[in-house]
Amino acid sequence: MEVIGRTVAIEASGLGKVYDGVTAIDGLSFQVFAGEIFGLLGPNGAGKSTTLRILITIVRPDAGHATVLGHDVVREADRVRHLIGYVPQERAIDRFLTGREHLLLLGDLYHLPKSETRKRIAEILRLVDLEEQADRPARTYSGGMKRKLDLACGLLPNPKILFLDEPTLGLDVQSRLRIWDYVRRLRERGITIVMTTNYLDEADRLCDRLAIIDGGRIKALGSPNELKAGLGGDIISLTVGASETACVDRLASELKGLPFVRAISTKQNGLDIRVESPEKALPVVLEAANRAACRLEFIDYHRPRLDDVFVALTGHAIREEFPKTDE
Ligand SMILES: Nc1ncnc2c1ncn2[C@@H]1O[C@H](COP(=O)(O)OP(=O)(O)O)[C@@H](O)[C@H]1O
Ligand SMILES: [Mg+2]
Repeated sequence: MEVIGRTVAIEASGLGKVYDGVTAIDGLSFQVFAGEIFGLLGPNGAGKSTTLRILITIVRPDAGHATVLGHDVVREADRVRHLIGYVPQERAIDRFLTGREHLLLLGDLYHLPKSETRKRIAEILRLVDLEEQADRPARTYSGGMKRKLDLACGLLPNPKILFLDEPTLGLDVQSRLRIWDYVRRLRERGITIVMTTNYLDEADRLCDRLAIIDGGRIKALGSPNELKAGLGGDIISLTVGASETACVDRLASELKGLPFVRAISTKQNGLDIRVESPEKALPVVLEAANRAACRLEFIDYHRPRLDDVFVALTGHAIREEFPKTDE
């Protein structure tokens, strides 16, 4: 199937899933084009993993349907499984096996011929820079190395489409950048990537297109630039002093309805104001702060970022402003 000259690799239509009365996803529809990196961006509990699990045929949807490379994920689950690879959010790593042994074992599970498996394993280990550590027990690996082994496992069946669930969750910055690099290399080899993330920077920098998902529904769909441009307007962020938080609401009501002000979202210690024209809006905003008797600690102006898009669409930030830990 083609849409304006692009081959559709995945088609999801009205997907729904309810677990014991809890709606995990509710009427998701989207397309993934062949050869792109497609992201599902959303906070914990948004329904990202559920969507991925339906597409890889391990969860049955309660509503809607989906095809992967033209095959229905329910009726033709076997065909779909032969075409895809999957890297789960967390993979159980054996205490004793080396990285290479993990891959050999997986090759047996996939019934791949031995000699071909060895060749593929060598190639994949090179691709993810894991050759030197391949013969060490995997339990001695760092978080980043374990994630590379996960990626290698997902690539072993030589998939046309690779599904990655939170590929860099909890990793340090260097390891994250490296994983992004491998994912781009896979795209260069013509592999279609579908990934989930709750990192805004990852969605922005790695994904060609993404669906923003919250509460089991798609809030917006497009390339990061389209989504940012769609917001319309730049952002002025004001931060007030720790003892001044009471003035935030006062300031918000002063700003409401003023010219050049399009939208306001308040935070505990300040507010984000989406404005039409920053040159014209800034004096108006500062005047309002003065009227509200708000002492400002910090003023920031920026072009729309993906976090602004997320707040505008969902009414809340993707995660708490000061996450306790990432994992
Ligand atoms: N196997 C399950 N049993 C019951 N509830 C589930 C199960 N899997 C997911 N859920 C619920 O469905 C919602 C979406 O979960 P999930 O798809 O894992 O979100 P995400 O991957 O975006 O964090 C959550 O409320 C979660 O608690
Ligand atoms: Mg998940």
